[in-house]
Amino acid sequence: MRIIAISNNKGGVGKTTSTVNIAAALQILGKKVLVIDIDHQAQSTYHFGYNPNNLTYSVYNVLKGEIAYKDVIIDRDGLHILPSKNELKDIEFIPLPAKEFLLKEALEGISGYDFILIDCPPSLGILTLNALTFAHEILVPLQVQFLPFHGMYNLFEAVQMVKRRLNKEVEITGIIGTMFNPKKQINVEVIEETKKRLPGKLFETLIRENVLLQEAPSWGKTIFEYKPNSNGAVDYMNLTKEILEKDVN
Ligand SMILES: Nc1ncnc2c1ncn2[C@@H]1O[C@H](COP(=O)(O)OP(=O)(O)OP(=O)(O)O)[C@@H](O)[C@H]1O
Ligand SMILES: [Mg+2]
Repeated sequence: MRIIAISNNKGGVGKTTSTVNIAAALQILGKKVLVIDIDHQAQSTYHFGYNPNNLTYSVYNVLKGEIAYKDVIIDRDGLHILPSKNELKDIEFIPLPAKEFLLKEALEGISGYDFILIDCPPSLGILTLNALTFAHEILVPLQVQFLPFHGMYNLFEAVQMVKRRLNKEVEITGIIGTMFNPKKQINVEVIEETKKRLPGKLFETLIRENVLLQEAPSWGKTIFEYKPNSNGAVDYMNLTKEILEKDVN
């Protein structure tokens, strides 16, 4: 079982789009997948077609120890989702002892999945730390339209801290270049710079800019359900195959 946090403290870089569509691609490839939405924006919960306002329980109640995760999981045609609601707030967990271990403890002994993907919020707060403490691996979406390294530096610092104090095992498996437009020089420059500074980390497959990836969430569909022949579907499938090849276990 591979437990992967999709994390970048910068907002709007493609964390949710990547989580949902990698999960969908893995399911198409025959893998058993659980997605955990640990962002109070509940974007991946929405993206999969669920309105958080209609849910009684969410990952929030699981973190608080109020209910077992198995009783909150939604079965979406075999793909399992541990949804979020906007009541999920960092601040409430801050006074708790061992607050970084709430997710790991709540999901202790979990089995039956090939992959657990965790969609993180755009911050390095308690919820992200819970994801990084539970995960074996991190995927970092990087929007290749801006020079991004200041933000990334904070993330790498946080990962080092997590490795020292909370979870020796966790590693950055790779960086996903998102919203790639080959016609824009800045995109090409960011990719070259990333390869230079972080050798071997950028996945070969780049996720091209594709408006259909933007439309799919409002229909509650993955890109494979919405437009299976789109660039977005092709790119996320190729990326997912690369992720499968990078299996370190
Ligand atoms: N390859 C792409 N081409 C075009 N639009 C994209 C692409 N990937 C993501 N988007 C759009 O960009 C916006 C931000 O993407 P997304 O929500 O996945 O980012 P995020 O990192 O999860 O954001 P947040 O930090 O708020 O959680 C969304 O509107 C999404 O539909
Ligand atoms: Mg998101």
